[in-house]
Amino acid sequence: MSSLQAHRKAIIGIGVEMVFQSGGSRFQALKKVNLEIFKGDIQLLMGPSGSGKTTLLSILAGILTPTAGSVHLLGEEITRMSRNQLARFRLANIGFIFQGFNLFPALTAAENVEVALHLKGIRGRMARQQAQVLLEQVGLADKAKNLPRDLSGGQKQRVAIARALAGNPQLIMADEPTAALDSHSGHAVIELLRQLAKEGGCTVLMVTHDSRIMDVADRVLHLEDGRLKA
Ligand SMILES: Nc1ncnc2c1ncn2[C@@H]1O[C@H](COP(=O)(O)OP(=O)(O)O)[C@@H](O)[C@H]1O
Ligand SMILES: [Mg+2]
Repeated sequence: MSSLQAHRKAIIGIGVEMVFQSGGSRFQALKKVNLEIFKGDIQLLMGPSGSGKTTLLSILAGILTPTAGSVHLLGEEITRMSRNQLARFRLANIGFIFQGFNLFPALTAAENVEVALHLKGIRGRMARQQAQVLLEQVGLADKAKNLPRDLSGGQKQRVAIARALAGNPQLIMADEPTAALDSHSGHAVIELLRQLAKEGGCTVLMVTHDSRIMDVADRVLHLEDGRLKA
């Protein structure tokens, strides 16, 4: 691979395999997965339930270590990093949006975003200002003081996105970000992720069953029984 090509790739997976072992049973969730995702793309990962989407996304985000193969993010091989190096790399470069919303129920929308900023070393007044800017970016400036229970599903998901955007990560990874949303909020979330990729230069990798998202995707990967389909 020439270095010019390597620079255009945000995410590379080579021969990625995942075997889960529990008790006496062994289950191969991913089989020799090879993929390349370009910078600035919106890349979808689709496939039936149980096909390995969450497992693959978790491996590409460095949350789960594959049993074989390598993962390169932004030109660095994360599968060779120490635990500490990987934790630092993830904090600096990856915003992850989970399948639930994973918000702290006792914290306001703004405080939920501030916690993520604190983890990145941004504190005090600076964190409060940046949280406000991030909530504005997702259209929730007027809900900053609301607790999660006083937000709709779509609004909670937008708080989760604001939190994932804290510190301007280059990679955004999302596991079924619209699954719990009605069609209107789903559209708002999709449009937001599209803007991030197209105007913010982020690379967005998204697991979804949502066929509406196909309209904004640059490319789609299909997973079936742990294998990528052409
Ligand atoms: N920690 C685990 N231990 C054992 N099996 C697992 C574990 N995580 C996932 N699996 C299995 O791996 C397969 C893929 O799971 P998952 O990646 O969650 O699929 P998807 O997100 O496409 O629905 C499923 O059969 C699931 O039961
Ligand atoms: Mg899943």
